[in-house]
Amino acid sequence: MNKLVGITRNFSNSTSLNAIKTVTVVGGGLMGSGIAQVAAQAGQNVTIIDLKPELLEKAQKSIQNNLNRVARKAYKDDPAKIEAFVKEASDRIKVSTKVEDGVNVDLIVEAIVERLDVKQELFNKLDQLCPEHTILASNTSSISINEIGAGIKRKDRFGGLHFFNPVPVMRLLEVIKGDHISEETYQTMMAWGKSVGKTCITCKDTPGFVVNRLLGPYSAEAVRMFERGDASARDIDTAMKLGAGYPMGPLELADFTGLDNKKSILAVMFEKTGNPVFRQVMLLDKLVSEGKYGRKTGEGIYKYNN
Ligand code: NAI
Repeated sequence: MNKLVGITRNFSNSTSLNAIKTVTVVGGGLMGSGIAQVAAQAGQNVTIIDLKPELLEKAQKSIQNNLNRVARKAYKDDPAKIEAFVKEASDRIKVSTKVEDGVNVDLIVEAIVERLDVKQELFNKLDQLCPEHTILASNTSSISINEIGAGIKRKDRFGGLHFFNPVPVMRLLEVIKGDHISEETYQTMMAWGKSVGKTCITCKDTPGFVVNRLLGPYSAEAVRMFERGDASARDIDTAMKLGAGYPMGPLELADFTGLDNKKSILAVMFEKTGNPVFRQVMLLDKLVSEGKYGRKTGEGIYKYNN
């Protein structure tokens, strides 16, 4: 049952605070499948849109596995409850390769490739196809929300919903207020974030929002320290875990979230802010050019078995 049922306000001709019941996620990759999962777990009907059937199949399999994990943890020794939980949540998720199949919803969250032109094209299309009340949101980690929404008419019903990887596990959601978002849309986004189990913080449309703005220079400097040979990778990570109380070291974390992502976020941040703390990191460039992206490719700063 949605915890927000009690919070109702009369918004004329609009989506009220607890009214997000149907969600479409465009892009069923790492982030999109996680966003779809948490929405389905919260009792919402979800449609995932991706380019190819095999990508959608992969997303469904990954969601199924994650749901099983969640259910086994919650209902340890009750196979019937585990099965029911997984079935109910999975049944709420539909998939399609046609964006038209996902437009009649309360909220659309975009989690496609991190390219401004591709995102703009998608949002311009969605703006035309969706009913008036539909709220549009981007999960971009580094592109300006205002720029993504530059071509749409419903600028008051558009904002950023920045999740963290892995979505079902990470509790934070950054709700990004573009220049034209209405108070009502913003409140609806905050309430929706809470309904899918997240703690929401609010940030203006500023490069990197909160987490990446702070994490970027920190992890870039950790890679530079390692590159200079100031300390070993293990020692840098151990130092920050035991000396600063961080659950993961900066290099472990960079490998976990992907060195390719780190590199492109730093490049965007440097371009946007001109701040040298975001300047190019040679070792990062080298590793990415060799296909060493971190955990997902088996090697990054560290080597991984499996
Ligand atoms: P991904 O590469 O795992 O997934 C992207 C998916 O979008 C792919 O399945 C691709 O086929 C699909 N796609 C691409 N263009 C499409 C289109 N026009 N229509 C429908 N589907 C399309 O990427 P990931 O990591 O899930 O990132 C997605 C977005 O989330 C990016 O904007 C990224 O910056 C952002 N993000 C990523 C985080 C991460 O840790 N990976 C964290 C927070 C945000």
